[in-house]
Amino acid sequence: MLDVSLGTRSYTIQFGSGNLSRIGSICKKLNLSGSSAVITNATIGALYGKSIIDSLAAVDISAECLIIPDGEQFKNSSTLNSIYDVLIERGLDRKSFLIALGGGVVGDITGFAAATYLRGIEFIQVPTSLLAQVDSSVGGKTGINHLKGKNLIGAFHQPRSVLVDISTLDTLPEREYLSGLAEVIKYGVVCDRDFFHFISERVDRLLDREQNTLLEVVSRSCAIKAGVVANDEREDGYRAVLNYGHTFAHAVERLTEYKRFLHGEAVAIGMVQACKLSEYKGYADSSDTKRLIDLLQQFGLPVDLPSFTVEAYLQAIRKDKKVNAGGINFVFNSGIGGSVIEAVADWDFLLSTIRAEVGK
Ligand SMILES: NC(=O)c1ccc[n+]([C@@H]2O[C@H](COP(=O)([O-])OP(=O)(O)OC[C@H]3O[C@@H](n4cnc5c(N)ncnc54)[C@H](O)[C@@H]3O)[C@@H](O)[C@H]2O)c1
Ligand SMILES: [Zn+2]
Repeated sequence: MLDVSLGTRSYTIQFGSGNLSRIGSICKKLNLSGSSAVITNATIGALYGKSIIDSLAAVDISAECLIIPDGEQFKNSSTLNSIYDVLIERGLDRKSFLIALGGGVVGDITGFAAATYLRGIEFIQVPTSLLAQVDSSVGGKTGINHLKGKNLIGAFHQPRSVLVDISTLDTLPEREYLSGLAEVIKYGVVCDRDFFHFISERVDRLLDREQNTLLEVVSRSCAIKAGVVANDEREDGYRAVLNYGHTFAHAVERLTEYKRFLHGEAVAIGMVQACKLSEYKGYADSSDTKRLIDLLQQFGLPVDLPSFTVEAYLQAIRKDKKVNAGGINFVFNSGIGGSVIEAVADWDFLLSTIRAEVGK
């Protein structure tokens, strides 16, 4: 169990294996007694929906699954409207609450529905992808995509509780699983040297999705993220550390039109670039970059920049919503386990690793 300390909106994250049936008692303890809608997709709903509904029924909470289509392209306003339609049809009121059962797509859109329906109702996160368990379900960012860009519409809305069941990762497709590990490695690189070692020493166990190792890795990742968020809920300062590797990751995703790489794969590529720039700055040395690349490759994650011109990278980076007039607040790693956040206005410097790799 982990506490996320955010004053009156603090909540707990519970970790376990095979613990979905605890959802009913968690809701009871939180005095959530109204009716509920469990928002999920067809795949995840078929696997885990019944455990959730049965557990709620056992404490007299009436709930039904609300199935949304599977995929990032459906994290949009028309899916959101279809959710509102069902909530209104089913008569959910201000005492009702939502449960997000799924990956980051389900979590983000459910959180945003909860933030806005009747000016805000409660919701609980039951993340089922590794990325959702270690990243998107913690921190209270909710939202949907707009045609003009990802996550442009959203709100901060903290869940009342998060229930993590490690055993749901058994059914997660391999590529999704490995991609989630990139964000886990990120926490080690910029926040916790021991954690980086811990992961490096347990590669085989992680590849086998060994439950005890996963339990430790997921709970430590959440503790790191929760610690950062508790310090800086609305990303005014230190929370930016979580964007490590993401400047280049977003550029790579944009240039490959979100088709070639999963998000975590792009983050793996972006972290290598960020580490090389940290080396140029003297914050890290070449052995740090080598260790990072080795670890990512052991998990089959990509580390090389796809071949686009330097000019194309420049334009893609400039489109990032985190870029402001003066330049970028760039996150460097300080060795392994620390970070330096610095405003960088020198585009030649930012593009130097790209120039060295793609050469044009
Ligand atoms: N709110 C935040 O702070 C935050 C942080 C990072 C990412 N995100 C968002 O998260 C989203 C990505 O999340 P994601 O990587 O979980 O993608 P996702 O939700 O699309 O899930 C990936 C795939 O795995 C499937 N899946 C999930 N759990 C499964 C399970 N246990 N068994 C079988 N299949 C399963 C899903 O159906 C989907 O096909 C993006 O929209 C991103 O913007 C939000
Ligand atoms: Zn990310």
